[in-house]
Amino acid sequence: MKIERPRGTRDFLPDEIRKRRAIETVMRKIAESYGYGEIATPVFEHLELFTTKSGEGIVKEIYAFRDKSGRELALRPELTAPVMRLFVNECSVMPRPLRFYYFANCFRYERPQKGRYREFWQFGVELIGSSSHLADAEVISLAYRILNELGLDFELHIGHVGVLRYLLRHLEEEKAAKIMRLIDKRDTDGLTVYLDEIGAPHELADRVFSLIDLSGGREVLGDASKIVKFDTTYMEKLCDVLDSLEINYTINLGTVRGLDYYTGVVFEAYAKHGLGAEKQICGGGSYRLAHLFGGEDIQSTGFALGFDRIAEICDLTTPEKPLVAVASIGFEKEACKLADSLRRHGICAVTDVMERSLKRQLSFANDVNARFAVIVGKREIESGKYTLKDMETGESMQLEFEELLDYFRSSGLCP
Ligand code: HAM
Repeated sequence: MKIERPRGTRDFLPDEIRKRRAIETVMRKIAESYGYGEIATPVFEHLELFTTKSGEGIVKEIYAFRDKSGRELALRPELTAPVMRLFVNECSVMPRPLRFYYFANCFRYERPQKGRYREFWQFGVELIGSSSHLADAEVISLAYRILNELGLDFELHIGHVGVLRYLLRHLEEEKAAKIMRLIDKRDTDGLTVYLDEIGAPHELADRVFSLIDLSGGREVLGDASKIVKFDTTYMEKLCDVLDSLEINYTINLGTVRGLDYYTGVVFEAYAKHGLGAEKQICGGGSYRLAHLFGGEDIQSTGFALGFDRIAEICDLTTPEKPLVAVASIGFEKEACKLADSLRRHGICAVTDVMERSLKRQLSFANDVNARFAVIVGKREIESGKYTLKDMETGESMQLEFEELLDYFRSSGLCP
């Protein structure tokens, strides 16, 4: 029986993994250059970690299950809630702000399509304990630098959920949350129907639509404050810092985010090409969650990059490491020893483990793109000189071990 992988999951072969590692390395390097330290949390958590803020409705969107003792658990659909739990459990007395980053797989019970998976990876950061615009500016600039360094063509949209929340303040929380979700999905028809269904005054509906239509430079803040009275100082100060860092952004008050915990500035980045409908490659903003998990009510800010979507459109990769195939004719032990010595000198070497003829060993070396083959046979053992075969040119030469190393060094195979 052939067993397929579960729906919405993927397998990755070495070429793809090399590319993903190269991308991950850039992300880590930049996060660390901003003083962020890596953390890791469990793949599964208590279900209530995710339902506390979002309600039971989220259960149908995640992998929730009972373990053998009947505990209600869930595979993490994201890492912000787990990181805040970790913060409350382990780090609440540490000097603030705390700067953490993570690279981890997440699980959502999605309808799979291109760019939307049931298992996917996020690279994210959380800056914990500040309510200053400087914290938002820092994480926005960090996300922007990573996307730039990866050579991506993207748009960055910045909004503030507080503005819409304020406009909807007279509605019950559940209704306001549903409106935010419809706006997040850009479902304007659904929004019209829902506003009508809950009997929202026309004037409120008009203001909602005018607000979410606003998009442009920082002057948009002035227009928005005519629709909803709000203090634009925080956003103006944020824009000042972003402008000084030469970050290109669009103010878009229709950027509201699908997750319920955001309280202030929110932002999303969209790839301009190559991803179709699932083009959001980054989402983040400031939020309050710690108090729901038994900690202090503090503000934090962060983002997560959609790693799989980025890998889909990013050209970065690292070249395959050159490989040496050590072939033997009746001297397997000696071939194993030679390969071992080469590896200690930083050279990637494979030996024959199929007990094949020399011809088939060399043919396999060719199949796996080995740059060189080194032959260990009777003649080599007796003379103390190995036969080196250049797999590209077909040339052969006889070299002692030290000469072999020098040759590999000069060919860039080892330091
Ligand atoms: P999110 O927008 O739900 O935010 O996810 C972040 C990114 O993960 C998205 O922009 C998207 O690129 C990617 N993503 C989401 N779902 C999928 C999927 N099914 N398949 C492939 N990629 C996907 C969060 O998760 C927040 N925790 C971000 C955050 C951190 N906010 C503050 N701190």
